[in-house]
Amino acid sequence: MSNEWVGSAEARANIALTKYWGNKGGAETLANNDSISMTLGDECVARTTVRFSSEYVRDRVVLGFEGGEDVEVAGLKKDRVVDQINRFREMAGVDLCVRVLSHTSFPEGVGIASSAAGFSALTLATCEALGLKFDKKQLSIQTRWAGSGSACRSVFGGFVRWRAGETSETSYAEQIAPSDHWALRDIVVGVSRGEKKVSSLEGHRRAVKNPHYRQRLELMPGRNTQVESAILTRDFEMLAPVVEEDARDLHAIALTSNPPIIYWNGATLDLMRAVPEWRDEGVPCCYTMDAGPNVHIICEAEYEEEVLHRVSGLGVARFTFVNGPGEGARVVDDHLF
Ligand code: PMV
Repeated sequence: MSNEWVGSAEARANIALTKYWGNKGGAETLANNDSISMTLGDECVARTTVRFSSEYVRDRVVLGFEGGEDVEVAGLKKDRVVDQINRFREMAGVDLCVRVLSHTSFPEGVGIASSAAGFSALTLATCEALGLKFDKKQLSIQTRWAGSGSACRSVFGGFVRWRAGETSETSYAEQIAPSDHWALRDIVVGVSRGEKKVSSLEGHRRAVKNPHYRQRLELMPGRNTQVESAILTRDFEMLAPVVEEDARDLHAIALTSNPPIIYWNGATLDLMRAVPEWRDEGVPCCYTMDAGPNVHIICEAEYEEEVLHRVSGLGVARFTFVNGPGEGARVVDDHLF
């Protein structure tokens, strides 16, 4: 008789309003500063099934997006998934081979990192399969070990703060407000022709060697206090300038790293000029960028149409992609295979 353990979970991507950039090194992914994000909605979900079986003779990891082709991954991509699963195989005392199938609802290149949703869903599905029970705080700690630190924020829905902490036990995410607290929108403006980019893993490594990085770390506590308070009081005027400042600061570190990392293109700059002007003209919105050229415009739901109209007038968008706040990671009963 075959011996089988299976679990499935889903998790959503998130957009950082203050960014995690640079870490303490090592496998535990300990951030150097707190970061605050909004978990995105159902358009940005990863669904993952993890199945261990005595019938399997090797580990297999297959990724894809709904409506696209599934691809079996190898090399570093596979290693990151298997390394995370190995930690739980050891904890559970299970040495069966595993098959992983993960689907994201959004294609690559839309400017939303699939790693946060993917690693958050993977961690929960693996724990579910192996009968390892963690509360959400502990689950965020376990998720952080996957190497994509931002994934630990996707454990929670709504508005989330990752407390950097000093040790693995003190570095975890927590919810600061639920998804229905504030109807914000994240409008991704796709401006990229898909140029090769430097991974965030590499960005984190270079950041800590940058002499300007120390100043960023000094400024982060103040920014986080302001962003958390803006969220709690739903104060967009307080939120907007600090979100933009922190995004520019991350990119200033990237630009002055050695070798430099230039994530922006001309259209990124066009939007960085236009968005504050729109704000001055009475449309409350602000921009932020992750480790890529696409621009995320944040606004309240009532301004979504106006912002989309203005973006279209600028003529730089290859596509737009809109999300509101969404829910945290959860176990699901439907297995993908
Ligand atoms: O979690 P990682 O290693 O993919 O790094 C995330 C880096 C940013 O997206 C640029 C910032 C963030 O806090 O999400």
